This record gives sequence, structure tokens and C-alpha cells, in this order.
Amino acid sequence: MDKFYKQLIDNNREWVQSKLDMDPEFFNNLAKGQQPPVLWIGCADSRVPANEIIGAEPGEVFVHRNIANMVVHSDMNMLSVLDYAVNALKVKHVIVCGHYGCGGIQAAMTNKSIGLIDNWIRHIKDVYRLHKDTLDKIEDEQEKWDRFVELNVTEQVFDLAKTSIVQNAWRNNQDLQLHGWAYGVGDGLIKDLEVNISNDSQLDSVYQLNF
Ligand code: CO
Repeated sequence: MDKFYKQLIDNNREWVQSKLDMDPEFFNNLAKGQQPPVLWIGCADSRVPANEIIGAEPGEVFVHRNIANMVVHSDMNMLSVLDYAVNALKVKHVIVCGHYGCGGIQAAMTNKSIGLIDNWIRHIKDVYRLHKDTLDKIEDEQEKWDRFVELNVTEQVFDLAKTSIVQNAWRNNQDLQLHGWAYGVGDGLIKDLEVNISNDSQLDSVYQLNF
């Protein structure tokens, strides 16, 4: 077995001990249940570990990650996480966190076939098409990539707002706020994209559901 792999379990034992040193009841309390105030929808990228970059402890963030932090409305995995977070855990915030340097976003800007993943990337290409006028005007490739990351996050926040799950919660006067962030893998900083939605009034009327 390689060294890095073997080290993982040793690291775990050290982490357990450090937590117990600070609070002997740490794991006993976690075993009682969870009531996280936040659902995080982020990229699967190894450089964007949800809890770590926002200083959150176990029990504080419910997490869903996929390539390019997508909210695909027929994705049962995402919908199940969202439904459980909103209706069972009653999270107050859902954060879509994209990141600069996202390989999924870059792939969507090009025409190269990568394999099965092309079918997932297609959802991101749909976002490009929506913002084609803005993105095609940007000549600098890096700048275009960064802007696409941001526009994709914004689009995913709106896609969350369009789900029956989120609209139902708002209809029941549940306090539920959606947010969009972009994380810099090169500097560790989160940029708040200031796309905050807490009711369906910002949605195109065709998406507003009556219950
Ligand atoms: Co990514």
C-alpha cells in the first residue's frame, strides 16, 4: 500500500484525539443528531473542501457536490439532498459555491470530447448559450472563464429557486435564503456574487408555481 493512503487512517486517529482534547463530548454530541443551518452545493474539485474553507465544524453544513456545482432539475441525487435539507433539516441558507479555475466550466467553453462526462458538461453548455452575448464579447480567455464561473453560479441559484421544493418552502413562509459564491483556488478567498433570493418574485413568471 502506498504511503499517502496508509497515512489517511493515522491522520483520522490524530484528528479524533485533537477533537476529544478540546471537547470530550464532541462525538457524543454529534451522535445525537444534526441540525445544520446551511446546505452547500459545490464543485467536486479537491481544492474546494466545503467545511474547511468556511471554518465550519462537523454538524454545521449539509453538503452536495458534483462537477461544476450544477443544479440539474432532473438529478434525483441533488433533489433528494435538497428535499431533505429543506423539509427535514430546515436549513435556512442554501449556498451554491463555484470556483475560479473550474475544469468543468472550462470544458464547457471548448469543443473537445472527454467521454461520458460530455453529457454532464452539456448542462453547462446550456448556461453558456443563455449568456452567449456576454461571454462571446470577452476576448481574454481567463477573463471569460472567470465570468462564466460566476454566471454559472448565478444560473444555478435561479435553478434552485425554480424547484418545487424551494417554492413550496417559500409558500409555507419558511425562512429559506439562496446565495451564490465563487471561491478562488489561487487565493482561498470567497467572492459573494450577491445573488440572494428569498422569494419567487425574481423568477420569470412562467416558473412561478401556484400550490
Ligand atoms: Co470545478
